[in-house]
Amino acid sequence: ADQTFDYDVLVIGAGPGGYVAAIRAAQLGLKVACAESRETLGGTCLNVGCIPSKALLHGSELFEEAHGGILAKFGVKTDNVTLDLDTMLGEKSTAVKELTGGVEYLFKKNKVTWLKGHASFKDAHTVEVAGETVSAKDIVIATGSSVTPLPGVEVDNDKGVVVDSTGALSLSKVPGHMVVIGGGVIGLELGSVWRRLGAKVTVVEYLDQLLPGMDGEVRKEAGKLFKKQGMELKLSTKVTGVDVNGDTAKVTVEPAVGGDAEVLEADCVLVAIGRKPNTDGLGLDAVGIETNKRGQIETDSIFNTKVESIWAIGDVIPGPMLAHKAEDEGIAVAENIAGQTGIVNHAVIPSVVYTMPEIAGVGLTEEAAKEAGHTIKVGKFPMMANSRAKTNRDTDGFVKVIAEAESDRVLGVWIITSLAGTMIAQAAQAMEFGATSEDIAYTCHAHPTHSEAVKEAAMAVQGKPIHI
Ligand code: FAD
Ligand code: NAI
Repeated sequence: ADQTFDYDVLVIGAGPGGYVAAIRAAQLGLKVACAESRETLGGTCLNVGCIPSKALLHGSELFEEAHGGILAKFGVKTDNVTLDLDTMLGEKSTAVKELTGGVEYLFKKNKVTWLKGHASFKDAHTVEVAGETVSAKDIVIATGSSVTPLPGVEVDNDKGVVVDSTGALSLSKVPGHMVVIGGGVIGLELGSVWRRLGAKVTVVEYLDQLLPGMDGEVRKEAGKLFKKQGMELKLSTKVTGVDVNGDTAKVTVEPAVGGDAEVLEADCVLVAIGRKPNTDGLGLDAVGIETNKRGQIETDSIFNTKVESIWAIGDVIPGPMLAHKAEDEGIAVAENIAGQTGIVNHAVIPSVVYTMPEIAGVGLTEEAAKEAGHTIKVGKFPMMANSRAKTNRDTDGFVKVIAEAESDRVLGVWIITSLAGTMIAQAAQAMEFGATSEDIAYTCHAHPTHSEAVKEAAMAVQGKPIHI
Protein backbone atom coordinates (compact mmCIF):
# COMPACT_ATOMS: atom_id res chain seq x y z
CA ALA A 1 0.00 0.00 0.00
CA ASP A 2 0.96 3.61 -0.60
CA GLN A 3 2.25 4.82 2.81
CA THR A 4 0.95 8.37 2.27
CA PHE A 5 -2.64 7.25 2.79
CA ASP A 6 -4.53 5.02 5.24
CA TYR A 7 -5.98 3.00 2.36
CA ASP A 8 -5.46 2.56 -1.35
CA VAL A 9 -9.20 2.67 -1.96
CA LEU A 10 -12.06 3.98 0.15
CA VAL A 11 -15.56 3.16 -1.06
CA ILE A 12 -18.49 5.22 0.25
CA GLY A 13 -21.64 3.07 0.44
CA ALA A 14 -21.94 -0.72 0.69
CA GLY A 15 -24.77 -1.39 -1.78
CA PRO A 16 -24.35 -3.65 -4.83
CA GLY A 17 -22.12 -1.01 -6.41
CA GLY A 18 -19.96 -0.24 -3.39
CA TYR A 19 -19.56 -3.67 -1.82
CA VAL A 20 -18.67 -5.24 -5.16
CA ALA A 21 -16.14 -2.46 -5.90
CA ALA A 22 -14.57 -2.96 -2.47
CA ILE A 23 -14.26 -6.73 -2.87
CA ARG A 24 -12.91 -6.48 -6.42
CA ALA A 25 -10.33 -3.86 -5.39
CA ALA A 26 -9.21 -6.12 -2.52
CA GLN A 27 -8.99 -9.09 -4.89
CA LEU A 28 -6.68 -6.97 -7.03
CA GLY A 29 -4.30 -6.57 -4.07
CA LEU A 30 -5.34 -3.11 -2.88
CA LYS A 31 -5.89 -2.10 0.76
CA VAL A 32 -9.58 -1.24 0.96
CA ALA A 33 -12.11 0.30 3.35
CA CYS A 34 -15.83 0.76 2.81
CA ALA A 35 -17.92 3.30 4.73
CA GLU A 36 -21.58 2.48 5.32
CA SER A 37 -24.02 4.41 7.47
CA ARG A 38 -26.65 1.66 7.61
CA GLU A 39 -26.50 -0.97 10.40
CA THR A 40 -26.01 -3.74 7.85
CA LEU A 41 -24.16 -4.08 4.54
CA GLY A 42 -25.81 -4.60 1.15
CA GLY A 43 -27.38 -1.18 0.57
CA THR A 44 -30.89 -0.56 -0.68
CA CYS A 45 -30.93 -3.76 -2.71
CA LEU A 46 -30.31 -6.27 0.06
CA ASN A 47 -31.98 -4.40 2.92
CA VAL A 48 -35.08 -2.71 1.49
CA GLY A 49 -35.05 -3.36 -2.27
CA CYS A 50 -34.46 -6.28 -4.61
CA ILE A 51 -34.16 -8.98 -1.97
CA PRO A 52 -37.08 -8.38 0.44
CA SER A 53 -39.37 -7.48 -2.48
CA LYS A 54 -38.55 -10.73 -4.28
CA ALA A 55 -39.12 -12.75 -1.09
CA LEU A 56 -42.60 -11.22 -0.77
CA LEU A 57 -43.31 -11.63 -4.48
CA HIS A 58 -42.46 -15.32 -4.15
CA GLY A 59 -44.43 -15.82 -0.94
CA SER A 60 -47.50 -14.02 -2.25
CA GLU A 61 -47.26 -15.99 -5.51
CA LEU A 62 -47.32 -19.25 -3.55
CA PHE A 63 -50.37 -18.01 -1.64
CA GLU A 64 -52.15 -17.05 -4.84
CA GLU A 65 -51.33 -20.40 -6.45
CA ALA A 66 -52.86 -22.20 -3.50
CA HIS A 67 -55.73 -19.79 -2.96
CA GLY A 68 -56.48 -18.76 -6.52
CA GLY A 69 -57.03 -22.22 -7.96
CA ILE A 70 -54.04 -23.03 -10.17
CA LEU A 71 -52.90 -25.78 -7.79
CA ALA A 72 -56.44 -27.19 -7.70
CA LYS A 73 -56.51 -27.10 -11.51
CA PHE A 74 -53.66 -29.59 -11.47
CA GLY A 75 -55.44 -31.72 -8.87
CA VAL A 76 -53.49 -30.44 -5.87
CA LYS A 77 -56.30 -29.83 -3.40
CA THR A 78 -55.56 -27.32 -0.70
CA ASP A 79 -58.67 -26.72 1.38
CA ASN A 80 -58.94 -23.78 3.74
CA VAL A 81 -55.86 -21.95 2.59
CA THR A 82 -55.08 -19.19 5.06
CA LEU A 83 -52.41 -16.52 5.24
CA ASP A 84 -49.99 -16.22 8.12
CA LEU A 85 -48.53 -12.83 7.21
CA ASP A 86 -46.07 -12.76 10.12
CA THR A 87 -44.49 -15.99 8.90
CA MET A 88 -44.24 -14.65 5.35
CA LEU A 89 -42.62 -11.42 6.58
CA GLY A 90 -40.33 -13.50 8.81
CA GLU A 91 -39.12 -15.56 5.86
CA LYS A 92 -38.37 -12.33 4.00
CA SER A 93 -36.36 -11.00 6.95
CA THR A 94 -34.40 -14.26 7.15
CA ALA A 95 -33.41 -13.97 3.48
CA VAL A 96 -32.29 -10.36 4.06
CA LYS A 97 -30.32 -11.33 7.16
CA GLU A 98 -28.57 -14.21 5.44
CA LEU A 99 -27.59 -12.11 2.45
CA THR A 100 -26.45 -9.00 4.34
CA GLY A 101 -24.51 -11.31 6.67
CA GLY A 102 -23.04 -12.90 3.56
CA VAL A 103 -21.59 -9.56 2.45
CA GLU A 104 -20.10 -9.09 5.92
CA TYR A 105 -18.47 -12.52 5.59
CA LEU A 106 -17.09 -11.59 2.14
CA PHE A 107 -15.66 -8.34 3.55
CA LYS A 108 -13.81 -10.32 6.23
CA LYS A 109 -12.66 -12.94 3.76
CA ASN A 110 -11.25 -10.28 1.43
CA LYS A 111 -9.90 -8.08 4.26
CA VAL A 112 -12.11 -5.10 3.45
CA THR A 113 -12.42 -2.81 6.50
CA TRP A 114 -15.99 -1.71 7.24
CA LEU A 115 -16.05 1.87 8.55
CA LYS A 116 -19.39 2.27 10.32
CA GLY A 117 -20.93 5.67 9.82
CA HIS A 118 -21.80 8.45 7.40
CA ALA A 119 -18.88 9.62 5.26
CA SER A 120 -18.31 13.18 4.07
CA PHE A 121 -15.48 14.66 2.05
CA LYS A 122 -12.84 16.91 3.58
CA ASP A 123 -10.65 17.00 0.47
CA ALA A 124 -9.96 14.92 -2.63
CA HIS A 125 -8.21 12.19 -0.61
CA THR A 126 -9.85 12.54 2.80
CA VAL A 127 -13.25 11.82 4.30
CA GLU A 128 -14.63 12.00 7.79
CA VAL A 129 -16.50 8.93 9.06
CA ALA A 130 -18.04 8.94 12.54
CA GLY A 131 -15.67 11.64 13.76
CA GLU A 132 -12.56 9.92 12.36
CA THR A 133 -10.51 11.25 9.47
CA VAL A 134 -9.61 8.61 6.91
CA SER A 135 -7.47 9.09 3.81
CA ALA A 136 -7.21 7.08 0.60
CA LYS A 137 -5.41 7.37 -2.72
CA ASP A 138 -8.68 6.76 -4.56
CA ILE A 139 -12.24 7.26 -3.33
CA VAL A 140 -15.34 5.69 -4.92
CA ILE A 141 -18.74 7.31 -4.38
CA ALA A 142 -21.38 4.56 -4.34
CA THR A 143 -23.99 6.26 -2.19
CA GLY A 144 -26.98 5.00 -4.17
CA SER A 145 -30.43 6.53 -4.16
CA SER A 146 -33.49 7.02 -2.00
CA VAL A 147 -37.22 7.51 -2.47
CA THR A 148 -38.41 10.63 -4.31
CA PRO A 149 -40.94 12.36 -2.07
CA LEU A 150 -44.27 13.58 -3.44
CA PRO A 151 -44.63 17.22 -2.42
CA GLY A 152 -47.32 17.68 0.21
CA VAL A 153 -47.59 13.94 0.98
CA GLU A 154 -45.96 12.82 4.20
CA VAL A 155 -44.73 9.23 4.40
CA ASP A 156 -44.92 7.47 7.77
CA ASN A 157 -43.71 3.90 7.37
CA ASP A 158 -44.23 3.05 11.04
CA LYS A 159 -47.85 4.04 11.00
CA GLY A 160 -48.38 2.19 7.71
CA VAL A 161 -51.07 4.45 6.21
CA VAL A 162 -48.91 6.45 3.77
CA VAL A 163 -45.80 4.43 2.97
CA ASP A 164 -42.93 4.24 0.53
CA SER A 165 -41.41 1.00 -0.75
CA THR A 166 -39.69 0.36 2.59
CA GLY A 167 -42.98 0.59 4.51
CA ALA A 168 -44.77 -1.53 1.89
CA LEU A 169 -42.32 -4.36 2.57
CA SER A 170 -43.40 -4.59 6.21
CA LEU A 171 -47.13 -3.81 6.51
CA SER A 172 -48.49 -5.50 9.63
CA LYS A 173 -51.79 -6.43 7.96
CA VAL A 174 -53.18 -6.76 4.45
CA PRO A 175 -54.86 -3.45 3.60
CA GLY A 176 -58.46 -3.47 2.43
CA HIS A 177 -57.73 -0.93 -0.29
CA MET A 178 -54.22 0.09 -1.32
CA VAL A 179 -53.78 3.09 -3.59
CA VAL A 180 -50.45 3.07 -5.39
CA ILE A 181 -49.17 6.40 -6.68
CA GLY A 182 -46.94 5.62 -9.69
CA GLY A 183 -47.37 2.78 -12.18
CA GLY A 184 -43.65 2.02 -12.44
CA VAL A 185 -41.61 -0.95 -11.30
CA ILE A 186 -42.10 -0.56 -7.54
CA GLY A 187 -45.81 0.24 -7.78
CA LEU A 188 -46.49 -2.85 -9.89
CA GLU A 189 -44.26 -5.27 -7.96
CA LEU A 190 -45.43 -4.25 -4.48
CA GLY A 191 -48.97 -3.61 -5.68
CA SER A 192 -48.96 -7.21 -6.98
CA VAL A 193 -47.77 -8.53 -3.62
CA TRP A 194 -50.63 -6.99 -1.66
CA ARG A 195 -53.25 -7.73 -4.34
CA ARG A 196 -52.29 -11.41 -4.22
CA LEU A 197 -52.58 -11.35 -0.43
CA GLY A 198 -56.11 -9.98 -0.69
CA ALA A 199 -56.01 -6.18 -1.00
CA LYS A 200 -57.95 -4.28 -3.62
CA VAL A 201 -55.26 -2.31 -5.44
CA THR A 202 -55.69 0.86 -7.45
CA VAL A 203 -52.68 2.20 -9.36
CA VAL A 204 -52.70 5.91 -10.20
CA GLU A 205 -50.30 6.72 -13.04
CA TYR A 206 -49.69 10.15 -14.50
CA LEU A 207 -48.80 8.89 -18.00
CA ASP A 208 -51.17 7.12 -20.41
CA GLN A 209 -49.40 3.74 -19.97
CA LEU A 210 -47.61 1.87 -17.18
CA LEU A 211 -43.83 1.29 -17.09
CA PRO A 212 -42.29 4.26 -18.93
CA GLY A 213 -39.14 3.37 -20.84
CA MET A 214 -40.26 -0.12 -21.79
CA ASP A 215 -41.41 -1.22 -25.25
CA GLY A 216 -44.85 0.14 -26.17
CA GLU A 217 -46.45 -3.23 -27.00
CA VAL A 218 -45.14 -4.72 -23.77
CA ARG A 219 -46.51 -1.80 -21.76
CA LYS A 220 -49.93 -2.25 -23.35
CA GLU A 221 -49.95 -6.02 -22.75
CA ALA A 222 -48.82 -5.50 -19.15
CA GLY A 223 -51.70 -3.09 -18.54
CA LYS A 224 -54.16 -5.59 -20.00
CA LEU A 225 -52.86 -8.46 -17.87
CA PHE A 226 -52.71 -6.50 -14.60
CA LYS A 227 -56.31 -5.38 -15.20
CA LYS A 228 -57.31 -9.00 -15.82
CA GLN A 229 -55.72 -9.87 -12.47
CA GLY A 230 -58.03 -7.38 -10.78
CA MET A 231 -55.76 -4.38 -10.39
CA GLU A 232 -57.57 -1.14 -11.03
CA LEU A 233 -55.54 1.19 -13.25
CA LYS A 234 -56.13 4.91 -13.34
CA LEU A 235 -53.91 6.04 -16.21
CA SER A 236 -53.43 9.67 -17.31
CA THR A 237 -54.39 10.60 -13.76
CA LYS A 238 -52.68 12.77 -11.19
CA VAL A 239 -52.89 12.87 -7.43
CA THR A 240 -53.66 16.33 -6.09
CA GLY A 241 -53.80 15.56 -2.39
CA VAL A 242 -53.64 12.89 0.30
CA ASP A 243 -55.47 13.50 3.58
CA VAL A 244 -54.78 11.09 6.42
CA ASN A 245 -57.43 10.61 9.05
CA GLY A 246 -56.51 7.99 11.65
CA ASP A 247 -56.05 4.63 9.94
CA THR A 248 -57.31 5.70 6.54
CA ALA A 249 -56.52 8.24 3.87
CA LYS A 250 -58.45 10.09 1.23
CA VAL A 251 -56.58 10.36 -2.06
CA THR A 252 -57.82 13.07 -4.39
CA VAL A 253 -57.11 12.42 -8.06
CA GLU A 254 -58.01 14.16 -11.30
CA PRO A 255 -57.31 13.63 -15.00
CA ALA A 256 -53.73 14.60 -15.87
CA VAL A 257 -55.04 17.17 -18.35
CA GLY A 258 -57.36 18.64 -15.70
CA GLY A 259 -61.04 17.94 -15.05
CA ASP A 260 -63.34 16.59 -12.35
CA ALA A 261 -61.67 15.41 -9.15
CA GLU A 262 -62.45 12.05 -7.56
CA VAL A 263 -61.72 10.90 -4.01
CA LEU A 264 -60.36 7.38 -3.36
CA GLU A 265 -60.69 5.99 0.17
CA ALA A 266 -57.61 3.97 1.08
CA ASP A 267 -56.28 2.00 4.06
CA CYS A 268 -52.80 2.31 2.64
CA VAL A 269 -51.21 4.67 0.13
CA LEU A 270 -47.93 3.60 -1.49
CA VAL A 271 -45.86 6.45 -2.93
CA ALA A 272 -43.70 5.05 -5.74
CA ILE A 273 -42.87 7.85 -8.15
CA GLY A 274 -39.14 7.20 -8.57
CA ARG A 275 -35.83 7.45 -6.74
CA LYS A 276 -33.22 10.20 -6.45
CA PRO A 277 -29.42 10.06 -6.06
CA ASN A 278 -27.97 10.33 -2.51
CA THR A 279 -25.54 13.22 -2.23
CA ASP A 280 -26.86 15.11 0.82
CA GLY A 281 -24.27 15.57 3.52
CA LEU A 282 -21.56 14.03 1.33
CA GLY A 283 -19.51 17.24 1.28
CA LEU A 284 -19.19 17.40 -2.51
CA ASP A 285 -18.54 21.15 -2.17
CA ALA A 286 -15.27 20.39 -0.42
CA VAL A 287 -13.97 18.66 -3.54
CA GLY A 288 -15.60 20.87 -6.16
CA ILE A 289 -17.94 18.22 -7.61
CA GLU A 290 -21.33 19.45 -8.75
CA THR A 291 -24.38 17.34 -9.49
CA ASN A 292 -26.29 17.63 -12.78
CA LYS A 293 -29.90 18.81 -12.92
CA ARG A 294 -31.14 15.32 -12.03
CA GLY A 295 -28.95 15.35 -8.93
CA GLN A 296 -26.52 12.80 -10.38
CA ILE A 297 -22.72 12.83 -10.30
CA GLU A 298 -21.30 12.79 -13.84
CA THR A 299 -18.36 10.56 -14.73
CA ASP A 300 -16.44 9.61 -17.86
CA SER A 301 -16.69 6.13 -19.36
CA ILE A 302 -14.24 4.69 -16.81
CA PHE A 303 -16.27 6.13 -13.88
CA ASN A 304 -13.79 8.88 -13.02
CA THR A 305 -15.35 12.17 -11.90
CA LYS A 306 -13.74 15.47 -12.83
CA VAL A 307 -11.52 15.02 -9.75
CA GLU A 308 -8.80 12.49 -10.61
CA SER A 309 -8.84 10.62 -7.28
CA ILE A 310 -12.65 10.43 -7.06
CA TRP A 311 -14.79 7.92 -8.90
CA ALA A 312 -18.55 7.24 -8.87
CA ILE A 313 -20.82 4.29 -9.71
CA GLY A 314 -24.33 2.91 -9.32
CA ASP A 315 -27.60 4.76 -8.72
CA VAL A 316 -25.79 8.02 -7.94
CA ILE A 317 -24.57 8.36 -11.57
CA PRO A 318 -26.62 8.47 -14.81
CA GLY A 319 -28.11 5.28 -16.27
CA PRO A 320 -30.74 2.79 -15.11
CA MET A 321 -31.06 2.48 -11.33
CA LEU A 322 -30.48 -1.27 -11.21
CA ALA A 323 -28.46 -3.49 -8.91
CA HIS A 324 -26.71 -5.45 -11.69
CA LYS A 325 -25.69 -2.21 -13.41
CA ALA A 326 -24.24 -0.99 -10.09
CA GLU A 327 -22.42 -4.32 -9.56
CA ASP A 328 -20.86 -4.34 -13.03
CA GLU A 329 -19.75 -0.75 -12.53
CA GLY A 330 -18.30 -1.78 -9.16
CA ILE A 331 -16.09 -4.37 -10.83
CA ALA A 332 -15.11 -2.02 -13.66
CA VAL A 333 -14.19 0.90 -11.39
CA ALA A 334 -11.98 -1.31 -9.20
CA GLU A 335 -10.21 -2.62 -12.28
CA ASN A 336 -9.69 0.92 -13.59
CA ILE A 337 -8.29 2.10 -10.26
CA ALA A 338 -5.90 -0.87 -10.35
CA GLY A 339 -4.71 0.20 -13.80
CA GLN A 340 -6.68 -2.36 -15.76
CA THR A 341 -9.43 -1.66 -18.29
CA GLY A 342 -12.90 -1.99 -16.81
CA ILE A 343 -15.85 -1.14 -19.02
CA VAL A 344 -19.62 -1.55 -18.83
CA ASN A 345 -21.66 -1.69 -22.01
CA HIS A 346 -24.57 0.53 -21.10
CA ALA A 347 -26.35 -0.38 -24.35
CA VAL A 348 -26.88 -3.95 -23.09
CA ILE A 349 -28.28 -3.77 -19.56
CA PRO A 350 -31.32 -5.99 -19.06
CA SER A 351 -34.22 -4.78 -16.95
CA VAL A 352 -36.81 -7.02 -15.32
CA VAL A 353 -40.09 -6.36 -13.55
CA TYR A 354 -40.75 -9.31 -11.25
CA THR A 355 -44.53 -9.36 -11.47
CA MET A 356 -46.45 -12.38 -12.75
CA PRO A 357 -45.93 -12.58 -15.65
CA GLU A 358 -42.46 -11.08 -15.51
CA ILE A 359 -41.61 -8.29 -17.92
CA ALA A 360 -38.08 -8.01 -19.25
CA GLY A 361 -36.18 -6.15 -21.91
CA VAL A 362 -32.71 -5.42 -23.17
CA GLY A 363 -31.48 -2.93 -25.76
CA LEU A 364 -33.74 -0.61 -27.71
CA THR A 365 -37.53 -0.49 -27.65
CA GLU A 366 -39.26 -0.41 -31.04
CA GLU A 367 -40.01 3.28 -30.46
CA ALA A 368 -36.41 4.15 -29.56
CA ALA A 369 -35.01 2.15 -32.50
CA LYS A 370 -37.20 4.08 -34.94
CA GLU A 371 -36.40 7.36 -33.27
CA ALA A 372 -32.69 6.61 -33.62
CA GLY A 373 -33.26 6.29 -37.37
CA HIS A 374 -32.94 2.50 -37.69
CA THR A 375 -34.95 0.62 -40.29
CA ILE A 376 -36.10 -2.41 -38.35
CA LYS A 377 -37.61 -5.86 -38.70
CA VAL A 378 -39.68 -7.18 -35.80
CA GLY A 379 -40.46 -10.81 -34.94
CA LYS A 380 -43.01 -11.78 -32.31
CA PHE A 381 -43.99 -15.11 -30.84
CA PRO A 382 -46.93 -15.60 -28.46
CA MET A 383 -46.50 -17.82 -25.40
CA MET A 384 -49.87 -19.32 -26.35
CA ALA A 385 -48.01 -21.22 -29.10
CA ASN A 386 -45.17 -22.40 -26.81
CA SER A 387 -45.66 -25.99 -25.72
CA ARG A 388 -44.15 -25.68 -22.23
CA ALA A 389 -46.26 -22.62 -21.47
CA LYS A 390 -49.27 -24.65 -22.61
CA THR A 391 -48.44 -27.62 -20.35
CA ASN A 392 -47.99 -25.24 -17.41
CA ARG A 393 -51.21 -23.34 -18.15
CA ASP A 394 -49.02 -20.26 -18.33
CA THR A 395 -49.75 -18.82 -21.77
CA ASP A 396 -49.91 -15.06 -21.10
CA GLY A 397 -47.43 -12.90 -22.97
CA PHE A 398 -45.03 -12.95 -25.90
CA VAL A 399 -41.42 -12.52 -27.01
CA LYS A 400 -40.48 -9.70 -29.36
CA VAL A 401 -37.15 -9.46 -31.19
CA ILE A 402 -36.18 -6.22 -32.90
CA ALA A 403 -33.41 -6.40 -35.52
CA GLU A 404 -31.86 -3.87 -37.87
CA ALA A 405 -33.33 -4.57 -41.31
CA GLU A 406 -30.16 -4.53 -43.38
CA SER A 407 -27.59 -6.13 -41.05
CA ASP A 408 -30.08 -8.32 -39.10
CA ARG A 409 -28.20 -7.29 -35.94
CA VAL A 410 -30.40 -7.58 -32.85
CA LEU A 411 -31.20 -4.14 -31.42
CA GLY A 412 -33.57 -5.15 -28.64
CA VAL A 413 -35.53 -8.02 -27.14
CA TRP A 414 -38.71 -7.64 -25.06
CA ILE A 415 -40.37 -10.48 -23.19
CA ILE A 416 -43.51 -10.75 -21.13
CA THR A 417 -44.05 -14.21 -19.62
CA SER A 418 -43.59 -15.96 -16.27
CA LEU A 419 -39.86 -16.69 -16.85
CA ALA A 420 -38.98 -13.49 -18.73
CA GLY A 421 -36.33 -12.48 -16.17
CA THR A 422 -34.39 -15.67 -16.79
CA MET A 423 -34.98 -15.74 -20.54
CA ILE A 424 -33.66 -12.20 -21.08
CA ALA A 425 -30.12 -13.36 -20.16
CA GLN A 426 -29.68 -15.19 -23.44
CA ALA A 427 -30.83 -12.10 -25.35
CA ALA A 428 -28.33 -9.93 -23.45
CA GLN A 429 -25.54 -12.39 -24.15
CA ALA A 430 -26.44 -12.59 -27.84
CA MET A 431 -26.45 -8.80 -28.12
CA GLU A 432 -23.15 -8.54 -26.25
CA PHE A 433 -21.68 -10.85 -28.90
CA GLY A 434 -23.21 -8.70 -31.67
CA ALA A 435 -25.62 -11.45 -32.73
CA THR A 436 -28.04 -11.30 -35.64
CA SER A 437 -31.57 -12.60 -35.24
CA GLU A 438 -30.49 -15.48 -37.49
CA ASP A 439 -27.78 -16.41 -34.94
CA ILE A 440 -30.50 -16.82 -32.30
CA ALA A 441 -32.82 -18.62 -34.72
CA TYR A 442 -30.12 -21.18 -35.57
CA THR A 443 -29.09 -21.80 -31.96
CA CYS A 444 -30.48 -25.09 -30.68
CA HIS A 445 -32.87 -24.45 -27.77
CA ALA A 446 -33.98 -27.30 -25.49
CA HIS A 447 -37.54 -28.57 -25.86
CA PRO A 448 -39.93 -28.04 -24.20
CA THR A 449 -38.83 -24.74 -22.65
CA HIS A 450 -40.19 -21.21 -22.51
CA SER A 451 -36.87 -20.17 -24.10
CA GLU A 452 -37.90 -21.73 -27.41
CA ALA A 453 -40.16 -18.69 -27.75
CA VAL A 454 -37.02 -16.51 -28.06
CA LYS A 455 -35.78 -18.72 -30.91
CA GLU A 456 -39.17 -18.64 -32.61
CA ALA A 457 -39.45 -14.84 -32.27
CA ALA A 458 -36.01 -14.60 -33.91
CA MET A 459 -37.24 -16.94 -36.66
CA ALA A 460 -40.26 -14.65 -37.03
CA VAL A 461 -37.91 -11.75 -37.80
CA GLN A 462 -37.06 -13.77 -40.89
CA GLY A 463 -40.75 -14.39 -41.47
CA LYS A 464 -40.53 -18.15 -40.88
CA PRO A 465 -41.45 -19.37 -37.40
CA ILE A 466 -42.59 -23.02 -37.24
CA HIS A 467 -45.31 -22.97 -34.61
CA ILE A 468 -47.45 -20.01 -35.67
P1 FAD B 1 -27.54 1.49 -2.78
O1 FAD B 1 -27.94 0.07 -2.84
O2 FAD B 1 -28.61 2.50 -2.57
O3 FAD B 1 -26.46 1.58 -1.62
C1 FAD B 1 -25.89 2.77 -1.21
C2 FAD B 1 -25.51 2.65 0.25
O4 FAD B 1 -24.74 3.79 0.58
C3 FAD B 1 -26.69 2.66 1.21
O5 FAD B 1 -26.64 1.52 2.04
C4 FAD B 1 -26.51 3.94 2.02
O6 FAD B 1 -26.87 3.76 3.38
C5 FAD B 1 -25.04 4.20 1.88
N1 FAD B 1 -24.67 5.61 1.98
C6 FAD B 1 -25.20 6.66 1.31
N2 FAD B 1 -24.55 7.80 1.60
C7 FAD B 1 -23.58 7.46 2.47
C8 FAD B 1 -22.56 8.20 3.12
N3 FAD B 1 -22.39 9.51 2.90
N4 FAD B 1 -21.74 7.54 3.97
C9 FAD B 1 -21.88 6.20 4.21
N5 FAD B 1 -22.81 5.46 3.60
C10 FAD B 1 -23.66 6.08 2.73
N6 FAD B 1 -32.77 -3.37 -8.78
C11 FAD B 1 -32.63 -4.50 -9.50
O7 FAD B 1 -31.71 -4.59 -10.32
N7 FAD B 1 -33.49 -5.55 -9.34
C12 FAD B 1 -34.51 -5.51 -8.47
O8 FAD B 1 -35.26 -6.47 -8.33
C13 FAD B 1 -34.69 -4.33 -7.70
N8 FAD B 1 -35.70 -4.24 -6.82
C14 FAD B 1 -35.84 -3.10 -6.06
C15 FAD B 1 -36.92 -3.02 -5.19
C16 FAD B 1 -37.10 -1.89 -4.41
C17 FAD B 1 -38.26 -1.83 -3.45
C18 FAD B 1 -36.16 -0.82 -4.51
C19 FAD B 1 -36.32 0.41 -3.65
C20 FAD B 1 -35.11 -0.88 -5.40
C21 FAD B 1 -34.94 -2.03 -6.20
N9 FAD B 1 -33.91 -2.13 -7.12
C22 FAD B 1 -33.78 -3.27 -7.88
C23 FAD B 1 -32.92 -1.05 -7.31
C24 FAD B 1 -31.62 -1.39 -6.57
O9 FAD B 1 -31.91 -1.54 -5.20
C25 FAD B 1 -30.59 -0.28 -6.78
O10 FAD B 1 -30.40 -0.05 -8.15
C26 FAD B 1 -29.27 -0.65 -6.17
O11 FAD B 1 -29.39 -0.91 -4.79
C27 FAD B 1 -28.23 0.46 -6.38
O12 FAD B 1 -27.02 0.10 -5.80
P2 FAD B 1 -26.00 1.21 -5.27
O13 FAD B 1 -24.84 0.43 -4.73
O14 FAD B 1 -25.76 2.22 -6.31
O15 FAD B 1 -26.74 1.95 -4.07
P1 NAI C 1 -40.30 4.37 -11.74
O1 NAI C 1 -39.57 5.49 -12.35
O2 NAI C 1 -40.11 3.00 -12.24
O3 NAI C 1 -41.86 4.65 -11.84
C1 NAI C 1 -42.46 5.80 -11.31
C2 NAI C 1 -43.80 5.99 -11.99
O4 NAI C 1 -44.49 7.03 -11.33
C3 NAI C 1 -43.68 6.40 -13.45
O5 NAI C 1 -44.53 5.60 -14.21
C4 NAI C 1 -44.11 7.86 -13.44
O6 NAI C 1 -44.73 8.25 -14.66
C5 NAI C 1 -45.09 7.87 -12.29
N1 NAI C 1 -45.27 9.16 -11.64
C6 NAI C 1 -44.32 10.10 -11.35
N2 NAI C 1 -44.88 11.13 -10.68
C7 NAI C 1 -46.19 10.83 -10.52
C8 NAI C 1 -47.28 11.48 -9.90
N3 NAI C 1 -47.13 12.65 -9.28
N4 NAI C 1 -48.49 10.89 -9.94
C9 NAI C 1 -48.65 9.67 -10.57
N5 NAI C 1 -47.66 9.02 -11.17
C10 NAI C 1 -46.44 9.58 -11.14
O7 NAI C 1 -40.01 4.48 -10.16
P2 NAI C 1 -40.29 3.48 -8.98
O8 NAI C 1 -41.34 2.51 -9.32
O9 NAI C 1 -40.46 4.33 -7.78
O10 NAI C 1 -38.92 2.71 -8.86
C11 NAI C 1 -37.71 3.42 -8.69
C12 NAI C 1 -36.57 2.71 -9.31
O11 NAI C 1 -36.18 1.60 -8.53
C13 NAI C 1 -36.88 2.11 -10.67
O12 NAI C 1 -36.76 3.08 -11.68
C14 NAI C 1 -35.85 1.05 -10.80
O13 NAI C 1 -34.67 1.64 -11.27
C15 NAI C 1 -35.66 0.60 -9.36
N6 NAI C 1 -36.39 -0.66 -9.15
C16 NAI C 1 -36.10 -1.74 -9.92
C17 NAI C 1 -36.77 -2.93 -9.77
C18 NAI C 1 -36.44 -4.05 -10.66
O14 NAI C 1 -35.42 -4.01 -11.33
N7 NAI C 1 -37.24 -5.10 -10.69
C19 NAI C 1 -37.80 -3.09 -8.76
C20 NAI C 1 -38.07 -1.89 -8.02
C21 NAI C 1 -37.36 -0.74 -8.21
